[in-house]
Amino acid sequence: MKTINVKLENHSYPIIVGKGAFNKLIELIESRKLHRNLFVVIDKNVEKYFGSYIRSYFDNYKEKKLYYSIKAVEKSKSFVELKKIYSILLEQKFGRDTLLISIGGGVTGDLAGFAASTFMRGIQVVHIPTTLTAMVDSSIGGKTGINFNYYKNIIGSFHQPQFVLCDIKFLDTLPEIEMISGLGEVIKYAFTTNYDFFKLVNESLDLILARGDNVLERVITDSANYKASVVSQDEKEHDLRKVLNFGHTFAHAFERELKNEIKHGEAVTAGILCALYLSYKKKFLTNETLQKLKALPLKLKLKRSLKQVDPEGIYENMFADKKNRNSQINFVLIRDIGELVVNVNAAKSEILYAIKHAIDSINLKSRNFLIPRM
Ligand SMILES: NC(=O)c1ccc[n+]([C@@H]2O[C@H](COP(=O)([O-])OP(=O)(O)OC[C@H]3O[C@@H](n4cnc5c(N)ncnc54)[C@H](O)[C@@H]3O)[C@@H](O)[C@H]2O)c1
Repeated sequence: MKTINVKLENHSYPIIVGKGAFNKLIELIESRKLHRNLFVVIDKNVEKYFGSYIRSYFDNYKEKKLYYSIKAVEKSKSFVELKKIYSILLEQKFGRDTLLISIGGGVTGDLAGFAASTFMRGIQVVHIPTTLTAMVDSSIGGKTGINFNYYKNIIGSFHQPQFVLCDIKFLDTLPEIEMISGLGEVIKYAFTTNYDFFKLVNESLDLILARGDNVLERVITDSANYKASVVSQDEKEHDLRKVLNFGHTFAHAFERELKNEIKHGEAVTAGILCALYLSYKKKFLTNETLQKLKALPLKLKLKRSLKQVDPEGIYENMFADKKNRNSQINFVLIRDIGELVVNVNAAKSEILYAIKHAIDSINLKSRNFLIPRM
């Protein structure tokens, strides 16, 4: 089992990664002297697979505890769900001395985290991520939030957890598409960290998808370590934390254009390819380095076909939350692995070049996957 520390000015906390980490929960609550009245918000699918395991773990826990399950869909990140949580907390007489435990992916963590940050001006929260995305990304850094008026994560707060427990066992039941989605963020870290991690991810994609324990533990630990170090240096997202948005400006446009019929991590993978092509167009990358770097995102077989995707549509969607076409987008681009450049502007022709080449390369790759062996 590995421990990573997120070091913040006013509140530091550990992330514990490993198979069986869940069994450390009560010990950690006690040793860290946290509140002992537990309100457990749990993803319905996680409850289906692990509900009896989780409940039996708490069998001998004598303090107050209540389970509340939610459906992990974007619609649940809403005021409606939030009100339900506040109401139950009040009805069941939970007070400031409550520890809210979130067990699930990013949807559960974002909603439960926001409830914890606002109920009685803030109660303690612990995250137990059960998706790859949540293990490497959403459970770390304290961002919480809900969606509102079709805007994603538009209402939210920063509320750091008391600790994060990443038990790799939970990934056994995670659907492959969710693993692919999580890998999009892992691939992003491969570009933002160093060559060793890039090499590891590049060589282990299939093994990660097959849930090889050792490689998963290594990849999750290294990813979480990297995110923790960025968050430690830039808690409230000033310039440094912006590197975590590598590929994301494009990714959000893919999600909007495809009306969310693409997983976030798949969109991030496509977005990273766009960012690589734009980096080349802006002369941050040579053609040789571009060819070397783009091989990694192209290795991940996206489930969502991009055959019908119109580059102009993606371009238009990039400005969906800007007031007019004259507003500039600040791109995060790359010179080399671990060498990111933030706040880069680009012309329409350069952006379209990048989108078109990224889509073409993905489509070409997926066609090659279908070529039967002779
Ligand atoms: N706060 C942040 O910093 C941050 C960062 C990235 C993403 N997010 C948010 O995270 C959300 C996406 O989260 P996600 O990708 O983790 O997925 P998710 O929470 O949407 O869950 C995806 C699916 O997997 C199921 N599931 C979860 N764990 C499972 C398990 N162990 N076994 C079987 N099924 C399981 C869920 O029920 C759901 O059907 C988005 O709302 C996004 O905005 C937040």
